[in-house]
Amino acid sequence: MTDTLLRWSYPRIIAHRGGGHYAPENTLAAVRLGAQRGFTMVEYDVKLTQDDLAILLHDDKVDRTSNGSGDAGAMSYRELATLDFGAWHSARYAGEPIPTLYAIAAFTQHNGILSDIEIKPCAGTEEHTGTLVTRMARLMWAHAKVPPLLSSFSEIALAAALREAPELPRALLIADELPTDWRERMQRLQCVALNMNQRHVTPDAIHRVHEAGYKITAWTVNDTVRAHDLLDWGCDAIFTDEIEAIPASI
Ligand code: G3P
Ligand code: MG
Repeated sequence: MTDTLLRWSYPRIIAHRGGGHYAPENTLAAVRLGAQRGFTMVEYDVKLTQDDLAILLHDDKVDRTSNGSGDAGAMSYRELATLDFGAWHSARYAGEPIPTLYAIAAFTQHNGILSDIEIKPCAGTEEHTGTLVTRMARLMWAHAKVPPLLSSFSEIALAAALREAPELPRALLIADELPTDWRERMQRLQCVALNMNQRHVTPDAIHRVHEAGYKITAWTVNDTVRAHDLLDWGCDAIFTDEIEAIPASI
């Protein structure tokens, strides 16, 4: 338990996908906006291109968040770099490129921003993505005082992360209620935190997770009253898209 506490140096409010609803998700512009609004930690989704570059992207396909179409995992970085990942959001962000993890590592560290790297492998690449993203994170944050938190829904990716860099803190993402075997899973993956869908976070769940020696966070909280409730109950952090109504300092 002491070890967990020592390795948890993260703020209570985290900007989701960089800048929440207010900038195109998972872009440098989004992370810059989050930083401008005073957020000291951002979450973003990371996967691999066909040529194994780590890039920020939520979906397997580029269709929803760019002017292109197709599977990102089947495209080279060079191909992805020709696409516009900003115009779908609003005209002012037209031309925003897909960021590499390297660019985000440089920007965040230069500006004192902490990272939750959500490892989001394309289907079928869980182990490879977990290994490579972790290896890159270890190198890119080698001199950081506070390491990035590596989180994933994929237990295969988290197991790979544990093998690759056991010293980097990990969080298990859970979409539903606390499963009966959550303690075993946390132990097996040596996670420090459980990142839960906010819908299922209750005072009882917080108590049980704390009692077992872990941190608990909630995503994605866009309602101010709910944000206050969760934090009052002792939730260790919340992720928000609503970076205007839920400021970094509530
Ligand atoms: O990491 C928290 C949250 O981002 C998980 O869900 O689908 O928004 O990546 P999603
Ligand atoms: Mg995410």
